[in-house]
Amino acid sequence: MTRSRRSLRHLGGPGRWARRLGVVVAAGWLAAPVFAQIPPAPGDALPGITPAEFELFNLGLEDFLEVEEPEEGLGPAFNGTSCGGCHNVPAVGGISPVSELRAGMVDADGVYTDFDPDAGSLFQLFSIPSHGCQVVIPAEATVIARRVPIPVFGGGLVDAIPDETLLALEDPLDLDRDGVSGRAAIVEDLATGELRVGRFGWKAQRASLLVFGADAYLNEMGITSDLFPREQSFGIDPALMRLCDPVPDPEDVEDRATRRRGIDNFESFMKFLAPVGRGPTDAQVRLGEQTFDAIGCAACHVPVLETGPSSNPLFDRQPVALYADLLLHDVGTGDGIAQAAAAANEVRTPALWGLRFRRPLLHDGRAATVTDAIEAHAAEAALAREGFDGLDPVSRAALLAFLGSL
Ligand code: HEC
Ligand code: HEC
Repeated sequence: MTRSRRSLRHLGGPGRWARRLGVVVAAGWLAAPVFAQIPPAPGDALPGITPAEFELFNLGLEDFLEVEEPEEGLGPAFNGTSCGGCHNVPAVGGISPVSELRAGMVDADGVYTDFDPDAGSLFQLFSIPSHGCQVVIPAEATVIARRVPIPVFGGGLVDAIPDETLLALEDPLDLDRDGVSGRAAIVEDLATGELRVGRFGWKAQRASLLVFGADAYLNEMGITSDLFPREQSFGIDPALMRLCDPVPDPEDVEDRATRRRGIDNFESFMKFLAPVGRGPTDAQVRLGEQTFDAIGCAACHVPVLETGPSSNPLFDRQPVALYADLLLHDVGTGDGIAQAAAAANEVRTPALWGLRFRRPLLHDGRAATVTDAIEAHAAEAALAREGFDGLDPVSRAALLAFLGSL
């Protein structure tokens, strides 16, 4: 991992807050309560972070933006050359129009399997081509699916929601008979070996930012770490892989000066990255939010969860207004790929915060508009969708205004 020692110049953070407030900050810092007045803009750090945390945030931002080269371990197969390359709209941490490819097989009994249980279902788009290291979808594939990026704004708050909170929202057998039967994704946290509730990714495949970042470093960029020490490129002979990528594994090692791995830096950036603040609210938006609740959208898109107790005030019992239960549901849109704890027909409820900055919608990007996304809801979300279809024009406009304010 190379790192340029740039000064602590940054898009969000104290300087920007100060400029917005029209204050000259001689010592480079302002007290937290002042920041708390104005909602953060996309890309800002969490209001109230300490100078030491802000330094970690910036170190992480640099690594998140750093474009990797083959000499640093990029490849042999990869989808992108930096985290920021796919996560940058409307600011670093967001999305991009990229979509990725997954594929697998469904047998005569309808059972899904990956071609390679180690490499999973991802087929990287690019390769270091020197020795023929491009992964290719086998002709036996019966399922091919696309996935669009998910923004990482507010990631630290999502990370800090206790497993018990998500478990309490579960209703796998639909005992309350509302048609909605969310399931928590129980996955292994590779950093600790513990079983945790997955919450990151379209399939809730990872439980923590650290592990998601390490997974992305390997699977998106081909960079191994001690959490994911083996290069994975479906169907490519290991000897060939070494020719395409001769850098010894793990490729992401501690930086001598900072004693931190790239994956630690990614985690810090995402942890201290603020959620996207709400747009303006008015009477119509408030009516729309009531409608959202009344027709059953909030059964899955739970408006607010809370972080657990923490010694860090940023994460100590803080409200997280993400509009999601982070559980797995069948809403009739499943991509046919079983992954981690998620069945082929299940998708994790996506957070709706920051929705106004996100297009296309749904896991595969098939929906151009919010209405298209809602109309795609079926199965567990059938009642809510019928509720939407039955709205009078005033309520419908209000609901869409509410969604447009997120
Ligand atoms: C080629 C594009 C691409 C690159 C490069 C990329 N990502 Fe992503 N990111 C995605 C996609 C697509 C998803 C959704 C994946 C899924 O769930 O199947 C995603 C999801 C995520 C999530 C889950 C967010 C949530 O709330 O569920 C995190 C965290 C994340 N990426 C972090 C990173 C980090 C850190 C890096 C760099 C090491 C990175 N990404 C590199 C495309 C990319
Ligand atoms: C049973 C749970 C459930 C209910 C009820 C539900 N949703 Fe969803 N919603 C989901 C899931 C799961 C997805 C992701 C589907 C996918 O990507 O394939 C989703 C996706 C969305 C998206 C797209 C978000 C994105 O980032 O792509 C929007 C917008 C949305 N829902 C709004 C609504 C509205 C409005 C209602 C009420 C009419 C509603 N949902 C009811 C579970 C639910």
